[in-house]
Amino acid sequence: MEHHANLVPWQLVAKSVGAELRFIPIKSDGTLDLVEARKLIDSKTALVAVTHSSNVLGTINPVGELVQLAHKVGARILIDGAQSVPHMPINLRELNPDFYAFSAHKMLGPTGIGVLYGNPEILNDMEPYMTGGEMIREVFLDHATWNSLPHKFEAGTPAIAEAVSLTAAVKYLEAIGMDRIAQYDHHLTMHALEKLSAENDLEIYGPRTQRGAVISFNVPGIHPHDMAALLDREGVAIRAGHHCCQPLMRWLGVQATARASFYLYNTLDDIDALVSAVRSARAILA
Ligand SMILES: Cc1ncc(COP(=O)(O)O)c(C=O)c1O
Repeated sequence: MEHHANLVPWQLVAKSVGAELRFIPIKSDGTLDLVEARKLIDSKTALVAVTHSSNVLGTINPVGELVQLAHKVGARILIDGAQSVPHMPINLRELNPDFYAFSAHKMLGPTGIGVLYGNPEILNDMEPYMTGGEMIREVFLDHATWNSLPHKFEAGTPAIAEAVSLTAAVKYLEAIGMDRIAQYDHHLTMHALEKLSAENDLEIYGPRTQRGAVISFNVPGIHPHDMAALLDREGVAIRAGHHCCQPLMRWLGVQATARASFYLYNTLDDIDALVSAVRSARAILA
């Protein structure tokens, strides 16, 4: 269920270091198969890379348990929090992952910037992967020494305007309260799930409980791009496509899905508008 962003990098790394990629299977309800995960994560595992919340299925993965499974065998774990950080409170001290990544543009912030948290002990042990201004302490003709964290990994002139905007977004979300946002998103998602499930012949992907604020669906015989175009005409913006999850599309047996997603600016009326626009699109395309 990984976004390509948390798959393709590991394909390149595996190729360059001769590592093997292994995949935790998904159960038919769209959740990870933890029985298989316990078998797959073993003494040969170097890194577990997993999404906290799926951008297609909405599945919220049991990352706490996966952190423990990884650490038990001496592996590192990286969690893709692009879909979780905007929608729920996350306590990295409690969760204790080695790496945790998220994107500003999914949390009311700007494009082109994100955050990669790394455990300082590991980061201190790592060599820089990129060179440029600010990442050095001293440079000699034949060698250089590295600046302290985080500068060691922030080579060159940073995206200053984006970082300032991301800070504003974080402060805005924190002022509202991540607990409140999580509750509200859940309320909207459950309402939408109930309404969409009542529609005939609408296939909804992903688990029914424990899910994030996205609902992917298809109507047999209607291409999701057509659905999205007609919804757009009614002022309802959804996304259609493979959502950067082509292996997951293959697993679902579809080329693409339509996907509605919700955030703190949405209302129950928006969901009613979505359901009614889906109905009119079906009537037109039938
Ligand atoms: C789960 C998930 N991971 C990773 C990404 C990639 O984020 P970015 O485009 O900021 O690299 C996205 C969204 O595009 C996502 O939904």
